[in-house]
Amino acid sequence: MTFASAFDPGSLAPQDARPVPALALERLSLREFRSYREAAIEIDARPVVLTGPNGAGKTNLLEAISFLAPGRGLRRARLLEVERRPVGPEAVPPAGPWAVAARVAGGSAGRVEIGTGRDGEAEAERRLVKIDGQFQRGQSALAAHMALVWLTPQMDRIFQDGASERRRFLDRMVYGFDPDHAGRLNAYDHALRERARLLQGSFAAPGTTVWLDGLEEQLAALGVAIAAARRDLLRRLEAAAAGGFGPFPAAGLGLEGALEASLGAMPALEAEEELRAAFAASRRLDAETGGARQGPHRSDLAVRHLERGRPARDCSTGEQKSLLIAILLAFARALGAERGTVPILLLDEVAAHLDEGRRHALYAELRALRAQAWLTGTDAGLFAGLGDQAQFFAVEDGRLATLRPPH
Ligand SMILES: Nc1ncnc2c1ncn2[C@@H]1O[C@H](COP(=O)(O)OP(=O)(O)O)[C@@H](O)[C@H]1O
Ligand SMILES: [Mg+2]
Repeated sequence: MTFASAFDPGSLAPQDARPVPALALERLSLREFRSYREAAIEIDARPVVLTGPNGAGKTNLLEAISFLAPGRGLRRARLLEVERRPVGPEAVPPAGPWAVAARVAGGSAGRVEIGTGRDGEAEAERRLVKIDGQFQRGQSALAAHMALVWLTPQMDRIFQDGASERRRFLDRMVYGFDPDHAGRLNAYDHALRERARLLQGSFAAPGTTVWLDGLEEQLAALGVAIAAARRDLLRRLEAAAAGGFGPFPAAGLGLEGALEASLGAMPALEAEEELRAAFAASRRLDAETGGARQGPHRSDLAVRHLERGRPARDCSTGEQKSLLIAILLAFARALGAERGTVPILLLDEVAAHLDEGRRHALYAELRALRAQAWLTGTDAGLFAGLGDQAQFFAVEDGRLATLRPPH
């Protein structure tokens, strides 16, 4: 494994605030989404702070925004699960399937209207996506108009748990640079399931073998493209981090996996052929396990705390959180510098867990990036450092109210 990146440790160099447009929601509306019957807010490009007691609906609102990107949102919920469930004898049942709509500014296509929600007509869970009033095939089109990453309390275990959550964290950042990545991952997963299904049958039948050959060829091409896009992301993060992030620790990022090793050692076409041959060779074993022994779905993101000289998983919870913040800031900076748009950041309950110095450093970096960060917390006082650089809303029982900035 190689560690591609080294954030410049400890550098306090001033951030270069190039006038890169930031992606920003200008209007957000939700219907029948979790604790919200109907809610809408108008906002500008500044950070948005949501405060309110536990259970008020702050994370629900961020989750709604997360559905503006491809995937299953920041809680990885089923579409029916996020639909408002009426409670109590007097509760009103939902008037229709849930929906989230936003007007988004700052993207390469100018202003766009994005709408998404559960398809009320479909039997299976299906998410509808509309861009500027036009229905889209699948969710991948969202990645072309939206760059969105998040940090939630659930991610506190990201370095302890299995690799899949780390891959998703990585892939969300790849979408920003390479909107086709979402579609490729989807096609890869689909082909992988199809192969597993075929392997459960009698794959000795001549027709099946031809079919498997075709699927594995497709898997190898998609797999190498996916791995290459992830490598590319790490290279860009490395460049973006050169200026340092004040008190946020320098991180070393690496990709681990057989496919990554091949890509590092041979041309992509050879790696593709190697992967195809590996799929063909593991049919019998994969038939037993129901999985596949190789491919980008087995890769892992390895993160090191460079100053401590330790893998992230051996760091304290606070250090891990700071590492994640440093990576997100590097991503935001890289996307701004290279694609000309700063992503939207959803930072759920992040401020409360930072000491004052780091909190202010985070606010300073968000200001320098001009990112529309969505920050939540129970106590508005935590955000006093943002002053009128941010817009404040109180959340309570699925309702939103404008607040004056705290001092
Ligand atoms: N599908 C749903 N329908 C109605 N209410 C929901 C649904 N899912 C979650 N909730 C409610 O949302 C509240 C949690 O909101 P959340 O956004 O997590 O709060 P917080 O402000 O602490 O982040 C809980 O009261 C929960 O019961
Ligand atoms: Mg919450």
